[in-house]
Amino acid sequence: MDSKQKILQDKLAQARLGGGEDRIAKQHEKKKLTARERIEFLLDEGSFEEMGALVTHRTTDFGMEKQQYYGDGVVTGYGTIDQRLVYVYAQDFTVFGGALSETHAEKICKVMELAMKVGAPIIGLNDSGGARIQEGVRSLGGYADIFFRNVQASGVIPQISAIMGPCAGGAVYSPAMTDFIMMVEQTSYMFVTGPNVVKTVTNEEVSAEELGGASAHAVKSGVAHTTSPHDAACLMDLRRLLSYLPQNNQEVPAKLPFTLGEEIREELESIVPDNPNKPYDMHEVISGIIDEDSFFEIHKDYAENMIVGFARLGGQSIGVIANQPLFLAGVLGVESSRKAARFTRFCDAFNIPLLVLVDVPGFLPGTDQEWNGIIVHGAKLLYALSEATVPRITVITRKAYGGAYDVMNSKHIGADFNYAWPTAEIAVMGAKGASEIIFRKEISAAKDPAKKLAEKEAEYADKFANPYRAAARGFVDEVILPKETRRKLIKAFASLENKQVESPYKKHGNIPL
Ligand code: COA
Repeated sequence: MDSKQKILQDKLAQARLGGGEDRIAKQHEKKKLTARERIEFLLDEGSFEEMGALVTHRTTDFGMEKQQYYGDGVVTGYGTIDQRLVYVYAQDFTVFGGALSETHAEKICKVMELAMKVGAPIIGLNDSGGARIQEGVRSLGGYADIFFRNVQASGVIPQISAIMGPCAGGAVYSPAMTDFIMMVEQTSYMFVTGPNVVKTVTNEEVSAEELGGASAHAVKSGVAHTTSPHDAACLMDLRRLLSYLPQNNQEVPAKLPFTLGEEIREELESIVPDNPNKPYDMHEVISGIIDEDSFFEIHKDYAENMIVGFARLGGQSIGVIANQPLFLAGVLGVESSRKAARFTRFCDAFNIPLLVLVDVPGFLPGTDQEWNGIIVHGAKLLYALSEATVPRITVITRKAYGGAYDVMNSKHIGADFNYAWPTAEIAVMGAKGASEIIFRKEISAAKDPAKKLAEKEAEYADKFANPYRAAARGFVDEVILPKETRRKLIKAFASLENKQVESPYKKHGNIPL
């Protein structure tokens, strides 16, 4: 073989080995795939084209010039997922623990810029010990270069982060500014300051897993959008997530072939119980409406009184936002409002129509909620839905009470179609609370106040615990049978396909943060 070709092949073979066989074995011992294995698993077979495989760092401090690894701790390039172009970078923990140097950051920025230029999603697989300690501020500058590009790309191309190992300190802020964070259980963690610093400053004893593991972020902080039991499952989830998304903000998500049939779903008729105080699982309503097995839930274990996720309806990708009566009766609270607001804004930025299912008794009362700013957080959802210009459809399955009626994609804030089931109750509040206020004098003057309250409650419920007052005003476009919901929605979304909304000029709005 020509010796010059051999030199190249040797260098590339060395690059493929990353930090060497021992460190690869260590990575496997921790039940983690290597950066290259992850990319291979994620992308369509044979589609990966690497860029910058021969990049090396430029540091000469601490004898670093003698420790050179081709690729400098990150594998970057492009390939396809289900034949669609994506740009990708995967940090290689076998090289300096995946730590980020100036050149490592340059490689990431290069693929981010290309992704933006061509309008393709950017995927980051994070597994890194943070800033390359030997490089000091150059490495911090590298992070900031990435952060800046994350913000430039926000709302332009989908940005997805998988956390597949450590992600600590400044490193957390790039994933934080991307659209989705997907964490691997037990092997990944994210925190701004680790357990040692926490111990020194606050005297709290906490493990890395407790502080910032997948479960902590999926359940407590809401930082993680999904969690998966191992690397391969996480990468499969990532592929699935992408299938609902368009390539960029100028495109709409790909539609699967679909022919409209009867689309009657009898099972929807018996989900809402007769007793309005009895809970039911809104997931059953969602799966009764959408294409079979098409729900991809986001933030599944966080603020469970609200459900959000992607689905397909008649082959079309939609975003679903739904109150969940099974948790806290489906009330709106600080966390559930933030969760739904963020999801709304993602869908709106990327042309994904929204379906909002409503069964909400109001906002969660209490000092905890008020002092944690429910006013501002509730406003986030109100703002996000009001500004969304994608097709928006609402179905009220049961309660739509008070201010929460307005917030949950009411006609008044720009929803295109508002449907209600016959079980809907659209009122300022529940019949009991309402009667106690407006008939207080009458009730306390009565011989038998409890009986009077029950009478008044029944009178109020008769008047308002139904969808017909709202239908009479046109606030609800149609009262429909539950079994017809799927058919109605498929047709309504199809009719909205060419929806266009002119918004007034502004630099950007000022969503309450
Ligand atoms: N800069 C340079 N090298 C780093 C590094 C960093 N930030 N983080 C890890 N490394 C190197 C280690 O020196 C080690 O090198 P070696 O294989 O030549 O011995 C290698 O990466 C693997 O690290 P190790 O500590 O053995 O792995 P671990 O799985 O036991 O621990 C961490 C992983 C991330 C918890 C640990 O490496 C760590 O605490 N790193 C520093 C985190 C930090 O403070 N970062 C800077 C601020 S953002």
